[in-house]
Amino acid sequence: STNASWGGRFSEPTDAFVARYTASVDFDQRMYRQDIQGSIAHARMLAKVGVLTAQERDDIIRGLEEVRIEIERGEFQWSVALEDVHMNIESALTRKIGITGKKLHTGRSRNDQVATDIRLYLRDECDVIAAELTRLQQGLVELAEKEADTIMPGFTHLQTAQPVTFGHHLLAWNAMLERDYSRLVDCRKRINQLPLGAAALAGTTYPIDRFYTAELLGFDAPTENSLDSVSDRDFAIEFTSVASLIMMHLSRFSEELVLWASAQFRFVDLPDRFCTGSSIMPQKKNPDVPELVRGKTGRVYGHLMALLTLMKSQPLAYNKDNQEDKEPLFDTVDTIRDSLRAFADMVPHLMARKADMREAAKRGFSTATDLADYLVRKGIAFRDAHEIVGKSVAYGVQTSKDLSEMTLAELQQFSDQIENDVFEVLTLEGSVAARNHIGGTAPDQVRAAAGRARAALEAR
Ligand code: ARG
Repeated sequence: STNASWGGRFSEPTDAFVARYTASVDFDQRMYRQDIQGSIAHARMLAKVGVLTAQERDDIIRGLEEVRIEIERGEFQWSVALEDVHMNIESALTRKIGITGKKLHTGRSRNDQVATDIRLYLRDECDVIAAELTRLQQGLVELAEKEADTIMPGFTHLQTAQPVTFGHHLLAWNAMLERDYSRLVDCRKRINQLPLGAAALAGTTYPIDRFYTAELLGFDAPTENSLDSVSDRDFAIEFTSVASLIMMHLSRFSEELVLWASAQFRFVDLPDRFCTGSSIMPQKKNPDVPELVRGKTGRVYGHLMALLTLMKSQPLAYNKDNQEDKEPLFDTVDTIRDSLRAFADMVPHLMARKADMREAAKRGFSTATDLADYLVRKGIAFRDAHEIVGKSVAYGVQTSKDLSEMTLAELQQFSDQIENDVFEVLTLEGSVAARNHIGGTAPDQVRAAAGRARAALEAR
C-alpha cells in the first residue's frame, strides 16, 4: 500500500521491493528512545509557543510514553512499509491518540528529526565509551604503580634496545588513551548541538523556540544554519575517526600482548577466562581477546572510509544517501564499546612474569648505551664512546658474554678510561634508575607519572 505519511501525491503504491530497499527500520529502530525523547521535547516546545494546546501536548506525551513501553516490552510491531523508526512511532502514536497524533510533525521534518536522533544517540554513547576508557586507564595506572620497579627490555625494531620498567610501558599505553579521551570529549561538543527546527532544509513558518528545545534535550545550543543542520554528518565522521584511533591503539596493545603471551617471550600471562583453547591441541591457550580486538580494528577503519565517501559528493541539503550513515556508525559504537570493555576487564588481571622479563632484559646488550654514557662522563666524545662500545659488543658476541659479565681487564682492552665503577652502570637497575627526568623510565619517575595520571583520572 502507499505510505500514509506521504501518499497524497502518488497514484500507485510503492513497489514492494523498493519499499524494502529504501526502508531503514530494521537498523534505525535502535534510536527509538531518542526519537521519542526528541518528539516529546518538540511537542513541549510547540505548546510553549502556542502551536499546540496543553491538552494536545499532554496527549502526545502520554501516547509516546505508551509507545516506548510497548517497544521496551518487545510488543511493538515494526513495519517495513512505514520505512523508518520515525514513521513507525508517529503512526503508532496516531493509532493510540487519534487526530492529535497527526499534529506532532508540525514544523518538523524527518530530516531534522533524524539528525537530532543520531546526535542524541551518539552523545549518550560517547558517555558510555568515555566511562569504559576511564575504567581501562584506571586499570593501567594501578598496574603501572605496582610494576614501577619491574624491569623488562625496551625495543626498537623489535630488537632489544634498553631496559625499561613494565610500569613505564603500561603508562605509554595510558598516554595514548589519555589523548583519545580528550579527542572524545572534544568531538562530543560538536555532537551536542540541536538541528531540530531546521525542518526539511529552510526552517519553518511556525514561531518555534529552538533554544527552548535545545535546553529540554540538554544540547548546548541550536545549530546555526538550517541547510547545514540537515545535511551535516561531520560529527559522525569525527566520532568514527576518534574510534579509529582508539582501535589503532588497542590493536598495538593487542599485538604486544599476543607476542608477550607466547612461549618465545613469556612476559605476561593472560587470565584463562580471557583465552580459549584448541579443539585439537590440548596444550593451547590462545589470546583470542587481543587477537579479535586487533582484527576488529579493520572494520572501524572501513566505517570511517565509508562515511567519508558517503558524504563527499552530496549537494546541499538532505539526500537519502544519509540513511547509509547509520549502520557504519552503529557498528563503530558497538565495536569500540565492546573492545574497550574487554580490555578494561582484562588489564587489571595481567600477570607479569617478572623473572622472564628480567632475563630477557639481560640479553641483547641492553646496557650498551649506559656504557657509552659512562665513557662520556669520563671525558670521551659521544661518537668515540659509541665506537668503543661497539667494539666491546662485538667482542661480547664472539665470546658469548654480556658487558656486565666481562672482567675489568677485558673491558679495558677497548678503553683505559674504564674503571671498577663501571659495573654498577652496567646493571639493569642502574640503567633504568639513571633515566631520572620527567618522561623517563626511572622507577621514581614512573611512580610520579602514575600519580599524575591517577589525579587526572580522578579530576574527570
Ligand atoms: N530514514 C531516513 C534517514 O535515515 C530519515 C530521513 C528521511 N527523510 C526523507 N526525506 N526521506 O536518513
